[in-house]
Formats: sequence, C-alpha cells, structure tokens
Amino acid sequence: MKHLTRALLGLGATIGFALPLAAQAPVTASVEVDAASPGPVIERAIYGQFAEHLGRGIYEGVWVGENSKIPNTGGYRNDVLTALRKLRVPVIRWPGGCFADEYDWRDGIGPRSKRPVRINTHWGGVTDDNAFGTHEFMNFAELVGADPYVAGNIGSGSPRDMAQWVEYMTSGSRSTLADERRSNGRDKPWKLTYFGVGNETWGCGGNMTAEYAADLHKRYATFVVSPWDGARVTKVASGANGDDYHWTEVLVRDAARQMDALSLHYYTLPGTWEHKGPATGFGEDQWISTLDHARRMEELVSRHSAIMDKYDPKKRIALFVDEWGTWYDPESGSHPGFLYQQNSLRDAEVAALTLNIFHRHTDRVKLAAIAQMVNVLQAMILTEGPRMLLTPTYHVFEMYVPFQGAIPLKASAQAPAYTFGGTSLPSVDISAARGTDGKIWVSLVNLDPKRPAHVTTNLAGGAASGRILTGATMDAHNTFDQPDAIHPVPYSGHSEHGKLVFDLPAKAIAVVRID
Ligand code: AHR
Repeated sequence: MKHLTRALLGLGATIGFALPLAAQAPVTASVEVDAASPGPVIERAIYGQFAEHLGRGIYEGVWVGENSKIPNTGGYRNDVLTALRKLRVPVIRWPGGCFADEYDWRDGIGPRSKRPVRINTHWGGVTDDNAFGTHEFMNFAELVGADPYVAGNIGSGSPRDMAQWVEYMTSGSRSTLADERRSNGRDKPWKLTYFGVGNETWGCGGNMTAEYAADLHKRYATFVVSPWDGARVTKVASGANGDDYHWTEVLVRDAARQMDALSLHYYTLPGTWEHKGPATGFGEDQWISTLDHARRMEELVSRHSAIMDKYDPKKRIALFVDEWGTWYDPESGSHPGFLYQQNSLRDAEVAALTLNIFHRHTDRVKLAAIAQMVNVLQAMILTEGPRMLLTPTYHVFEMYVPFQGAIPLKASAQAPAYTFGGTSLPSVDISAARGTDGKIWVSLVNLDPKRPAHVTTNLAGGAASGRILTGATMDAHNTFDQPDAIHPVPYSGHSEHGKLVFDLPAKAIAVVRID
C-alpha cells in the first residue's frame, strides 16, 4: 500500500489531477511471464492504420494541398507526418473501406485540375475532387515509412480495372500504363506490398453471399499479378464481419489458392448499431460494456483461426484484422456521415486490450489496421483547421512501439474480477515480449476504473521502468484547447523479495522494460 500511495501521489503530481481513487483499496493480482515459451514474431504490420476517403480522414486530416496555410510538405500536413513517424506506422490501408468499391483509380491520376469531381455516396454524399489519388497515397506511405495496402474495387469495377491499376503502380516495363505513371511524375515503380481484392463483399462491397464472393475473389485475384521484378504483392480476400464463421469457412474452403490473407472486420460498440453510445460523458455501464465487447476479439480471432486451420494447417494464409476499433455516436454538430468521434482513456484501454490479443495470436494474425488514422472513428489524431491533437489511442500505439517485431512470451494474469451490473471481466490484462533490443517488455492494463491493483510477478530483476497512461475520469481526453490533458508519464515497478512488483492505478495502461 505504501508503494501504491507513493506511485499514485507521484503520478497525480505529474499529471496534475485530483486523486479521487487513492482511498480505494487495491486488489491483489499476480502475473507470470514464461520467458522460455516464445511465440511467432509480433509482425510490425499489426500496428497498421486505415485511412479512407471518409469525412475529414484524408482531406484536412492528411492532405491540405500545397497552397494551404497549414504547414505542409507537398500538400501533406507536417504536424500529422511528424506524429505518424513517431508511431513507426508499418502499413496504411487506403482508399477504403466502403469507398474502395466505388472508386475508379483513373479519377485520381494526372493533373489535379483535370481530375473529375465525384460524389462519395457512402460517406455523406459530399464531393471528392480526387486531389488525393494513387500518387498522393503511395508517396504519402513512403514519406511516413509505411508499406502501402491498396484496396481494389470488386463491387463496381472490373477485373481489368484492377489488373491495370496494379500494373500502373508496379510495372518497371515500358508498357503504356507504366509510361503513363512516368508522365504523371513517378519514374520508379512503387512497391505495392498488399492489395485487397474488394472490401466487405458481404455488405457495402456488393452484398454478396459467401459462395458468390469466393468465386468472384478467385476471378479478380487471378488478374492481380505481381511484377516480374521479384517483388510480391500479398493478395487479401475480403473476409468476415465479426462472428460470421460461415464466411471464413466458405472463403478458405473455396478460394484458398488465390489468397495470401483473409481479412476480418470487427468494431467495438458500447451499445447497438442503432444506439451506440457517446464517445465521452458515459457511465460505468458503458465503460464495462465497451471493454467487454473489445475483449470479444480474442474469441473471434481464435475461432476464425481454427476454421482456417482446417483448410490451411500450415498457416500459409494470414488473418488480417484490417478494420477494428471503437464506433460511437458521431459528435453533436458533426456530419453524421463523417464518423467523427472523440477519443478517451476508454479507447486507450480498448487499444491496449486489442493489441494484447493480437500478441497472443501471432501464429495467424499478421496484420491489423485500426479504423481510422485521422479524424474518423478511433483515430490516432484529431485536427481542427491548423490545430492537431494526439488522442489517448495514439499514446498507446506510441507506448507499444517496442512490441513491434518483438517475440511474444507466454504470460498470464490471476486477478479478481472487475464487476459492474451483470458483467464481470478480469481486472488485469498482460502482454509480454522480448523486444528487438533483447529486453523483456511488459504491458499491464487495469480494466477496473475504481480500484488500483497491486501486481506481483515472477520476474526477477532490479528495475522495471517505462510509462503509464491514466486519467482522473473514465472519459479523460484531449481537446484542442487542452491538447495535452492526458499523456503518458514515467512509471516504474519495484523489487520485493527479489521479484518485481507493480502498483497499477485504476483504469491505466503501463508499458515497462525489465532491466
Ligand atoms: O471504417 C468505416 C467503415 O466500416 C468502412 O468503410 C467499412 O469497411 C466498414 O463497414
């Protein structure tokens, strides 16, 4: 208790908030890390981002154009570029989403002044002047240092359109399409790492049955050809919606040979699709239901993976969770089709719990993309004119950078249940990995918004230090007037009887390195 009080007081002083929880009795938890049980590498790509032509995600969020007063590099916001580079974003998925299946790639090449203006029918019926097209995206990915993941149009485009887009981007030949790319300003072919053969073919990508989608995938994927220079394009089939296991069964059973990966989309809502709940100003009922729903990802990836194991026991085909994150009611006053929402400590918990789940399933989950990168759904970054803020979710992604490319270690937590209403969850979650620096990194999440946890470990070590993210309230968040209200602060464990011990405040995420 002495240590806990010290930790809380130190933390409160650093963050500058009152400590209403200090009087609450901590629960006692224990965690075990088995350094002798390594798993398959945590692919950097599970830290991927999704950026769709939706609301202010691309326009305003990433792209302001060269003539903007907002400081930019060739049209890309400098503040956003700098923030994304710090996250070491491994991959960016574009242009959708639902938008992908209405997108004609030819609209987004050539002189900007000559590009057609189209209506974004899925997202608010607003016009898109196509200022951000293939060149702008591929160059953006290069600037950020991320691999490009381009989603093609299976819903309203032809296999020929898809084939020609891939050729345009990747061919080093003197073909007419490759020369067209050159005349549009890009000599060298881009490295197209991932190509999605449609998006949500069960829904906005064409409302297909699984059987029809499998056939169509085979047809379209046949014409997505990797360039002859040795670079390989990973072909991603449009996968299931949440717990639609039939979809996975049919796609893998019927189309395995034409795919390298199958996607899975799952969104976390506190309530229902009709009444999702607000992003801030919620009660504990919505806190616990959100975390409960986020934890469903464990069951989803386990069960989809088990189905894939039946047809692909050697695990050649990866599971890409290329859309995940929280989805709330849009902020009042914002365009309902723009999916703009605030982002709070609750989102940070969802991010940490979900990343920990991916760390536990690295045998199959090789890529994930949170929805979405800027200004849309569970965003890393929010912008308003020239102003920008980093969300609590951004801070989790930044704290978790040492897990990119790390080797996951078996880890378990024994903790009392956190219960509210009719729902009970384990109060503490853990992930551990050996980082590329050779050190063991541990993430600890306290799901209980009221009670701190005194966490004992089996880890011998003199020191464990890192950072922690917490806040005074469940919906602690940053605003444009107070962009730094919630941010990570230094945190450390201490040694008791030769083993490391952590005093974890309520509703907190800590990432530490064991020395
Ligand atoms: O991320 C928002 C939308 O959610 C995407 O466009 C679609 O794929 C999904 O339904």
